Amino acid sequence: MRECFEIRDTDGAGRIGELSVPRAGVTVETPALMPVINPHLRTVDPAALESDFGAEILITNGYILYQSEEFRERALNEGLADLYDFSGAIVTDSGSFQLSEYGEISVTNAEILEFQRDVGADVGTPIDIPTPPDAGRERAEDELETTKARLEAAESVDVGEMLLNAPIQGSTYPDLRASAAAHAYGTDLDVFPVGAVVPLMNGYRYAEMIEVVRAAKGGLGADAPVHLFGAGHPMMFALAAAAGCDLFDSAAYALYARDGRYLTVSGTDHLDDLEYFPCSCPVCADHTPAELRSVSETQRETLLARHNLHVSYRELRTVKQAIREGSLFELLERRARSHPAMVDGYRELLDDAAALERSDPVSKSAFFHLSADSARRPEVERHHDRLGRLSVDGDRVLLSAGGDNSRFDETWRLRAPFGPVPPALSDTYPLTAERPERLGRAGYEAAAEGVGRLAAANPDTEFAIAHWGWPDSALGRLPESVETLLLGPESEYSEGA
Ligand code: GUN
Ligand code: ZN
Repeated sequence: MRECFEIRDTDGAGRIGELSVPRAGVTVETPALMPVINPHLRTVDPAALESDFGAEILITNGYILYQSEEFRERALNEGLADLYDFSGAIVTDSGSFQLSEYGEISVTNAEILEFQRDVGADVGTPIDIPTPPDAGRERAEDELETTKARLEAAESVDVGEMLLNAPIQGSTYPDLRASAAAHAYGTDLDVFPVGAVVPLMNGYRYAEMIEVVRAAKGGLGADAPVHLFGAGHPMMFALAAAAGCDLFDSAAYALYARDGRYLTVSGTDHLDDLEYFPCSCPVCADHTPAELRSVSETQRETLLARHNLHVSYRELRTVKQAIREGSLFELLERRARSHPAMVDGYRELLDDAAALERSDPVSKSAFFHLSADSARRPEVERHHDRLGRLSVDGDRVLLSAGGDNSRFDETWRLRAPFGPVPPALSDTYPLTAERPERLGRAGYEAAAEGVGRLAAANPDTEFAIAHWGWPDSALGRLPESVETLLLGPESEYSEGA
């Protein structure tokens, strides 16, 4: 059991956890956002992050400090907590990103780890090699060997109470990511960042990002805190959290502000294009877009950065509340609709319903069927698995979307997207789902799948379904032995729903 991380609540693979950071003497509630602080810019001061935004953790670059004439000695003498006037946890990165950008850095793995320890970092990072997406297999393997060796070397550096990141690389090869994760989990390092995913996120390759995260998670125990390196856009927090990521770092709030860009949970707007602010954070409540355009450049950058942080922290709280109340999938369905690439990411997540199902609570507040994708949620899969284990009493059983029929020994309700509803479970989650009157074909296809599972588990029982105009694609999925009765001319199926 990893001592530094405790899970409090789960929804799908998403979780609320507590990361204990001994050196800072604090616990950080996850999912947590770590704003990136560049010591030379400080677009928003760390002290303000703490007082105005409730930041419990931030991340800064140990290598930039190491090289800085202005800050190196001060960081060593005062320590980062005083230098930044921040009492939460301070994570430092190692220069790996600079390595991937410029091809070389002038420090060794042991030196930068000792430097991070000496400036009082609470979580330090060895120099991993961020292999970009689509790298050749051989390069990805070679660089991963180096990363693994750096993690092993970090184990024998005396870092005191400082926790250590164990970055997981492997480019876009799921098997390499899984092996990297299993290796990292086998070290005594503490926090597990999934690395080199920034190009995937910048390229809107969310499905591949989910694939990479899933592969990495597969090599880690459930008790491993996972950081998605470079994930700073609030639009993707719900998706990344639902995939089981616990920590995000945001440079986006500052980088985007410098370009006059305004973050929202569904994308990025340019200040120049806005006539109204769709937000009521203190910045947006006090200014119109026109006013913000007319202030000095420095002021504008700070105010935009502050809005970007407000929207990011608000989204993080929204995600946490959704996990707590069991509505993370509903939130995800809404967020996914903000960009086609997010739909791809969400669908990729649903592709592995079994992995989501493992940590998904058995009961939540309500299941909202909102789209064809809802039919692929883990709750539907779980219900189908249960049907596959149920034995039915009668010889002739009607599964009916309407009323009873005296020809049958027993009648069960038939409810898309779940399928047969065992009478004893009809008032329990998720069979109490709220759904539109008319579903699209995916909902009925899933229900037919459920009928098939029940029929397979009860080969001696004759089943019939009574339905309101199910589409042929659903009827075609029923076992041949299942009789079908049409309830009436009006259909509950809607092509477009
Ligand atoms: N920042 C963004 N991506 C990475 C990564 O892969 N490794 C490290 N160390 N820092 C990062
Ligand atoms: Zn705002």
